[in-house]
Amino acid sequence: SAIAVDQAAGGLLKRLAKRGDIEGTSGHTLLVHCEDDLRAPRLLVVGLGDADQLDADEFLAVVRSAATALQQTGATNAAVTLAEAKVKQRDLGDRTRIIVEAFAASRYRFDRLKSKKSKSKNRTLSKIVLPVKEKSSVAAVRRSVREGEAVSSGVQLARDLANLPGNICTPSYLAEQARKLLRSHQLKVSILSEPQMRSLKMGSLLSVTRGSREPAKLIIMEYRGGAKSSPPVVLVGKGLTFDAGGISLKPAGKMDEMKYDMGGAAGVLGTMQTVAELNLPINIIGVLAGCENMPDGKAYRPGDILTTMSGQTVEVLNTDAEGRLVLCDALTYVERFDPELVIDVATLTGAVIVALGNHATGLMSTHNPLAHELMNAGEQSSDRAWRLPVWDEYQDQLESPFADFTNLGGRAAGSITAACFLSRFTKKYNWAHMDIAGTAWRSGKNKGATGRPVPMLAQFLMNRAGLGAED
Ligand code: BES
Ligand code: MN
Ligand code: ZN
Repeated sequence: SAIAVDQAAGGLLKRLAKRGDIEGTSGHTLLVHCEDDLRAPRLLVVGLGDADQLDADEFLAVVRSAATALQQTGATNAAVTLAEAKVKQRDLGDRTRIIVEAFAASRYRFDRLKSKKSKSKNRTLSKIVLPVKEKSSVAAVRRSVREGEAVSSGVQLARDLANLPGNICTPSYLAEQARKLLRSHQLKVSILSEPQMRSLKMGSLLSVTRGSREPAKLIIMEYRGGAKSSPPVVLVGKGLTFDAGGISLKPAGKMDEMKYDMGGAAGVLGTMQTVAELNLPINIIGVLAGCENMPDGKAYRPGDILTTMSGQTVEVLNTDAEGRLVLCDALTYVERFDPELVIDVATLTGAVIVALGNHATGLMSTHNPLAHELMNAGEQSSDRAWRLPVWDEYQDQLESPFADFTNLGGRAAGSITAACFLSRFTKKYNWAHMDIAGTAWRSGKNKGATGRPVPMLAQFLMNRAGLGAED
């Protein structure tokens, strides 16, 4: 395409290169106003770096900078030829998906709670065209566009939900959103109220919610795309719509970010939307454990001993380690689905940020094949996870003199001992745990939800459904 454009514009690109305006530096962009030389009024030249060295990470960075640069022009539509680049281990379909997802993400704004919307709204990039040279590739590119759009819409839903503050996005709001998804797609949704949880003996979840005025909701979404007899994949999301820490109150700084403590639930809901849009031929159940953790006269206390739905007792040593207490009852509850496997997704520990920073999701699993499958899906979708061990040696850190175990593992290996706690409730099925505390949102100037790990989960499920594997 560059050659064709150069010829149509009478050697313009060659002249720009000669003059030093184009050096091909990776991610560098140059906007050229073409007036009448070309059929397009503007041309955005994007550097790809060393053509033989381009890998998926760098390509993604290049596409992002191109998308950002395009958004800043007044263009409302654009033909994007970046998929022509050769990228290590990524075929045309993969490259197409990267472009679709990066462009969709670059459009994302969360301004619905501002009283004045930003002005330039009517001049945003609203359409991109992906020229395809070989007729034989058109079908594969179409499919990738469809996949990319479905993943993007799941990511966007997850970001919207997570960005909403705790006074709007309550457990009941999460339940409403699940019902809304049911109306637009083939899903069955059931919502357990606190009295129903009481009859199920979910003593642990109910203890966490006791200090809150917002009723907890356990939200179950069933997507049946596969054979009736085939066991479902179950996704469980931590849905703490606000985590103040409870009686073990958190410090004030950055406490606002604990509105993101339902990032796991948002990720599961987003993934359900993606899956439903793609009509994946498998059975998937999403469970959102919606709850709030607040200090109150009725709140649960350090020292309290709870009886979980599984019958195991827990001594609470810190009411801020509430995620595991909410998840454990949800993990026991899902036994009834005879799952093929269970993945829980949770903003569970600050410690995972110490271990992995904000780049990788922490992955912990007692089932090696499942861990490998998830790592691969993360690699494929540029939404990566890195594994931490759940060895028995760590289990000792949960010993309690009074109950079966405590909810606190001490300073060492905080993410792993949290996983050890959960592992005591997941003996009946293959299980993986994803700690997204470092990846579900960004802090600082560009504060906002990322929509992770929707791309990874969606990829995992697409792979399972036998899609995406054959191109
Ligand atoms: N939701 C938090 C985890 C968290 C903290 C995520 C900071 C992102 C940033 C979780 O409920 C929590 O408070 N965990 C405690 C556990 C500790 C008390 C064992 C933590 O990480 O400090
Ligand atoms: Mn907490
Ligand atoms: Zn929490």
